[in-house]
Amino acid sequence: MRTQAQRLSAATLETLLNAIDANDAITGAHVRRVASYALILGESAGLDKRTLHSIERVALFHDIGKLHEALTDIFHDPKKLTPEERRAVTTHPLRGAEVLEPLSVFYPELAKGVAAHHERWDGSGYPRRLKGRRIPLQARVVSIADTFDAITHRRRYSHARSFAEATRAIAEGKGSQFDPDLVDLFLSPPVLAKIERAMRQAHMPQQKRDKRRRGQIHRVPDITFRWRPRSRGSRSRGHQP
Ligand SMILES: [Fe+2]
Repeated sequence: MRTQAQRLSAATLETLLNAIDANDAITGAHVRRVASYALILGESAGLDKRTLHSIERVALFHDIGKLHEALTDIFHDPKKLTPEERRAVTTHPLRGAEVLEPLSVFYPELAKGVAAHHERWDGSGYPRRLKGRRIPLQARVVSIADTFDAITHRRRYSHARSFAEATRAIAEGKGSQFDPDLVDLFLSPPVLAKIERAMRQAHMPQQKRDKRRRGQIHRVPDITFRWRPRSRGSRSRGHQP
């Protein structure tokens, strides 16, 4: 049974997630999909429950830095970014880590993982140019899930591309952008099958999803902060299916 403290921490994180939804429902939906893909990858890697919890938290809050006043206009503008705007965008991992800093006492990996989600395996990422295993595991997992979702889901500035195109992009990033072992695992047939199922479900109209969920027990692991899709009544307008 959960203790009062565990319930409080889950409620606090869920409140933070609601704040993301309230500001930007599209990002709210994106981070939930990223969390579900990241959990599939983490579970398939045989990671322990504690690490899975932290991967989920990093996935859910990896883009919280985009809410910063200096960046929201840029992210809401559908036109191509200027070089200056592009530079501003690269500040979002550290802005996110700053927002989450007070939680570091309880979740030491959270701010570090969020800060590192745009680092690349070969050391050419940002903001710290971390290389290889110096990049926190949570960030390495989330980075694959994030790229996969960015390709397969329509965003303000790009159209959705196919599942095959997304897996090709992940394969191409092996050893340069992404952890090669995690890429091999992600692209293995059993993991891809799970990812494809999760993707189809995430793209399903809400009504059909509700129906399916009723017959489904424990689709995601029972972790401390287990995100749950918001009820239909509370969905914001403009939320993508
Ligand atoms: Fe990001």
